[in-house]
Amino acid sequence: MVIKGEALIREGQQVLANTYARNPILLVRGKGAQVWDSNGREYLDFVAGIAVCNLGHCHPKVVQALEEQAGQLIHCSNLYYNGPQVELARRLCEHSFGERVFFCNSGAEATEAAIKLARKYSKARYGPERYEIITMENSFHGRTMGALSATGQKKFHQGFDPLLPGFTYCPFDDLEAVTQAIGPRTCAVMVEPIQGEGGVILPSPDYLKGLKQLCNQTGLLLIYDEVQVGMGRTGRLFAYEHYDAPPHVMTLAKSLANGVPIGALVATNEVAEAFVPGDHASTFGGNPLATAAGCTVIDTLIEDGILENCEVMGRYLLQGLLGLKKRYAFIKAVRGKGLIIGCELEFEGKEIVESCLAKGVLINCTAGKVLRFIPPLIITREEIDILLETLNEVFAER
Ligand SMILES: Cc1ncc(COP(=O)(O)O)c(C=O)c1O
Repeated sequence: MVIKGEALIREGQQVLANTYARNPILLVRGKGAQVWDSNGREYLDFVAGIAVCNLGHCHPKVVQALEEQAGQLIHCSNLYYNGPQVELARRLCEHSFGERVFFCNSGAEATEAAIKLARKYSKARYGPERYEIITMENSFHGRTMGALSATGQKKFHQGFDPLLPGFTYCPFDDLEAVTQAIGPRTCAVMVEPIQGEGGVILPSPDYLKGLKQLCNQTGLLLIYDEVQVGMGRTGRLFAYEHYDAPPHVMTLAKSLANGVPIGALVATNEVAEAFVPGDHASTFGGNPLATAAGCTVIDTLIEDGILENCEVMGRYLLQGLLGLKKRYAFIKAVRGKGLIIGCELEFEGKEIVESCLAKGVLINCTAGKVLRFIPPLIITREEIDILLETLNEVFAER
């Protein structure tokens, strides 16, 4: 077993595209907030597949839904209806501002759909010159060319010019900057309610409400990218619920099906109607397997007290990290909402991540210096204590 895992890692280094700086472990099994590597070693998982496995690994209800659906119909294309797709769209609409849903397979694809929908809607309504989208500096919207162009971080653009035209970047949480940037070509504002990859950056309480007002006054669409912070991550089903400012369009992906690839674009009827047959499509989008899992995810989040646990455990983790901040002067800031929490260090976080891994705890670092904690939302107090003890040991060794 030892040999096989190590041999596969070595082979992976040869045959996989070199797009990730991967940790040298091979994961073979997961349950709840635990994963195991090919040597049988157990890890406590505060990454959850990058905010994907919100119900924990192999949640029994998700496994059951997948097993049942896999035995009935895995895929049939969007030339026909399938039940789970309609059921998931209904649930998303019932629990959000939305009235119609387009399904795809990833966050980047959801961003692409949002860009196309915003352009189509605005051109039809206001004229062909309306195509520009204001996005935020330090944002992240995905790696495909449209989503990359929407992403307001130069480091991701390098080497991929020319980008798609039609994007203007404004500082995050700066309403005045957006007001100034709006011009005759602007059709939409796209923003993460909380910036995730950018370092877990929260907006001022009234920022999103201000954006909504501005968009309503100027006839722009407000698009929220909830790919990372949606589906219960902040303690509410959608992060925008904290800010009392529903958008016109929202993108989802990551945890929508707890690990089965899926993406979604949720929109009001008035906006969604801009898409007509032939405008946009996805072979796999909304296939019965992924959407059956998605239905189970929403039902479980709501019915099994997961949102409540996220809120309570989020507060507990935040307090624990603030305690560490008092002890270690190199912790510059601790911030977050629910179970997306950032701990900003004075130095690069890579070594801390590696030391935690060596001690059996998986954490992640984003924006260079921000340790990001995005565990499954079923995490317990005892598991958070293990993380805090591990961090304390690792910080003390510095
Ligand atoms: C806010 C946000 N939008 C979009 C994406 C892209 O999602 P995907 O990797 O599924 O394409 C991510 C991924 O991290 C994200 O955090």
